Amino acid sequence: MITIRHLKKEYANATPLKDVNVEIHKGDVISVIGPSGTGKSTLIRCINLLETPTSGEIFVDGECITDKKCNINKVRQKMGMVFQSFNLFNHMNVIENIMAAPMDLLKKSKQEAYDYGIELLRTVGLADKAFNYPDQLSGGQKQRVAIVRALAMEPEIILLDEPTSALDPTMVGEVQAVIRDLARKGLTLMIVTHEMRFAREIANRVFYMDEGGVYEDGTPEEIFDNPKKEKTIRFIKHLKVFEHLITSKDFDFIGFNTDLEEFGRRNQVAPKTIYRAQSVFEELAVQCVLPKLDKDFKLNVAFEYSQEEETLFMTLKYDGDTFDVRNTPNVISFAIAENASESIEYAEIDEDGFKNLVTVKIK
Ligand SMILES: Nc1ncnc2c1ncn2[C@@H]1O[C@H](COP(=O)(O)OP(=O)(O)OP(=O)(O)O)[C@@H](O)[C@H]1O
Ligand SMILES: [Mg+2]
Repeated sequence: MITIRHLKKEYANATPLKDVNVEIHKGDVISVIGPSGTGKSTLIRCINLLETPTSGEIFVDGECITDKKCNINKVRQKMGMVFQSFNLFNHMNVIENIMAAPMDLLKKSKQEAYDYGIELLRTVGLADKAFNYPDQLSGGQKQRVAIVRALAMEPEIILLDEPTSALDPTMVGEVQAVIRDLARKGLTLMIVTHEMRFAREIANRVFYMDEGGVYEDGTPEEIFDNPKKEKTIRFIKHLKVFEHLITSKDFDFIGFNTDLEEFGRRNQVAPKTIYRAQSVFEELAVQCVLPKLDKDFKLNVAFEYSQEEETLFMTLKYDGDTFDVRNTPNVISFAIAENASESIEYAEIDEDGFKNLVTVKIK
């Protein structure tokens, strides 16, 4: 349905896309993942011709849309676009937002556009908001309207660029549910997202972007469980493991907790679990282990989340004398940590200068 050949996009001081070659089939649901700045948004914007490619070709249903002679507006009608920031018209109510393009571009009558708009709103649970203005809606509701507005054009593919990243965490679920529904109905979708569990469960293909292109392309199982290429392997490992080396008692505790929360969000770990992990880290690492360590010390903290088993493990490795944290004189802190854990184990080790290993399964 869409064929991309040797696509290149160059800016004055960045070339996010060097050579992209991919084929998108009808009914594909593609999650686009990868580090920040690797051209995920640029790729989606090029497909929709919101950006003009520097070189290369994009074919939609056999028609070369990068050709100067091509009618861009006609092609754009085949593609719906959903942005992070909704982009609704604030001076129009919900149904007017939805009816505008179908009347204007598809030449639908007012009644037709209205009826179809209401029908679509019903499918996302928002029919009763048809006459509200965007500023009277929550973020999640606005994004559902933006999705309906794209659907109202009866597009062949919908391109979504981080559709839930501007939302309050409590509203992510409702928007993801709507997108999941579209995927089930067989629509062709391409979604840039940093929410990896969602990326995995919704897609039949995953594009990992890096090095100026689609660096690795595979099924969710291939990319998330058995990535083949070096950068993908590193990215996937980093997703599942949050690791931090502490070498000063004055380390940035707030920053650490923020990073741990971000790790939790990426993996969609329940906020309760992350809260317990923070508490275990505070009580065990900060209150029990840190006071025992010498002036020059190293304490390595790692969190690893398994999506399949929905389990979060914390490991602490530290140098110095052997010290079994379970024998800490700080019984109160230990009791708090124990309360938030399924198990706390200790082992003596001798690895990279570390002498002690504590493994905690977070509740
Ligand atoms: N209009 C522009 N002018 C100049 N440089 C740009 C422009 N748009 C993007 N870039 C650069 O192109 C690169 C890729 O940007 P892009 O927004 O596609 O990345 P991304 O993968 O979507 O990142 P993120 O995950 O942070 O959204 C970046 O280095 C960015 O600074
Ligand atoms: Mg982006």
